[in-house]
Amino acid sequence: MIAKIDENVYFIGMMHWDRRLFDDLIPLPDGTSYNSYLVKGSEKTALIDTADPEKIDELMEKLDEMGIKSIDYIIANHAEQDHSGGIPMLLEKYPMAKVVTNEKCKGFLKDLLLVPDEKFVVVDENDEISLGGKTLQFIMAPWVHWPETMLTYLKEDKILFTCDFFGSHLATSRIYADENDVYKPAKRYYAEIMMPFRNKIRHHLEKLESMEIKMIAPSHGPIYREPKFIMDAYRDWVSDDVKNEVIIAYVSMHGSVKKMVEYLTDALIERGIDVIPFNLTVTDIGELAMAMVDAATIIIATPMVLAGMHPSAVYAAYLANAFRPKTKFVSLLISYGWGGRAMEQAKSLLSNLKAELIEPVMIKGYPKESDFEAIKGLAEKVAEKHREAGILK
Ligand code: FEO
Repeated sequence: MIAKIDENVYFIGMMHWDRRLFDDLIPLPDGTSYNSYLVKGSEKTALIDTADPEKIDELMEKLDEMGIKSIDYIIANHAEQDHSGGIPMLLEKYPMAKVVTNEKCKGFLKDLLLVPDEKFVVVDENDEISLGGKTLQFIMAPWVHWPETMLTYLKEDKILFTCDFFGSHLATSRIYADENDVYKPAKRYYAEIMMPFRNKIRHHLEKLESMEIKMIAPSHGPIYREPKFIMDAYRDWVSDDVKNEVIIAYVSMHGSVKKMVEYLTDALIERGIDVIPFNLTVTDIGELAMAMVDAATIIIATPMVLAGMHPSAVYAAYLANAFRPKTKFVSLLISYGWGGRAMEQAKSLLSNLKAELIEPVMIKGYPKESDFEAIKGLAEKVAEKHREAGILK
């Protein structure tokens, strides 16, 4: 897709409609896109971000279609290959082009793509490049989500090119974001990619406050003509505010844990708390990550396997620990046959979370009356904590 988004500014979107996995890790239920942007000044032409190597032929065809005979600058906002992977091929096609990026990104591009040293123009915070009537300004924004990430601001048109930041894995025929379509993919994207860097993102958002931004043009998903929508959503996600929600991430081998989870779910709902149970054997980890953006409490429920947690529960705990959500409370439901160290293991796996541990419930075998009482006690404790946190009236 090619579209003019402002005078001499073009969106070139490579839709990857059927891609279903990113980094061999992240599910992509809505596909994704790699957006490149062409900015033509009266003297020079710049291409902002390229495309995944799998789609680079498409980008080159589109540039031919647009009659682009030369490119002076390839702006690399981020070194990850879904945006930078096409740089070597573009440098072959446009041998006079220079790669404009920061020092750290240059290092990555040399290491990952073997781009020769002499091809670079290195920029730093607020440096500018004039294309003739179009000025590109560079804003360093490390850790969204790699250490070298930066943003490019087209001053005259007030367009902010943000690469991954504010992006969404969404292949769509709409160039501009429809708020109903994009909210969930954008939240999923934040959850999977940005959440571990919440404090950094907050800092970058504050930095953007002072800028006049007419349009946010990310390199995944649609463009925001009304930046307030996505900036407000991000402000909410990175804030310390949590919702009156409990995630129960569970796996059950012979039904004991399932019974405990069902009982706890009902007990929490009866107390006015929203519950999101995830059966880990069929869970899309993106859905789990999205729930972690806001939920006040995470409970992991697992049977004991080989003296420890079930591997699916280990994976969920590992992800929670890696995503570092703003969750305030955690707890566990465990069923065992003859002992083991699941409790210690879970506590150690969740060590990154700055959350209060609510006394877990650990039972032997199938739950009995006294076990249900203990689960009811856990539900009551969660409700009490949510009330103290001011999210349950
Ligand atoms: Fe879309 Fe971090 O690459």
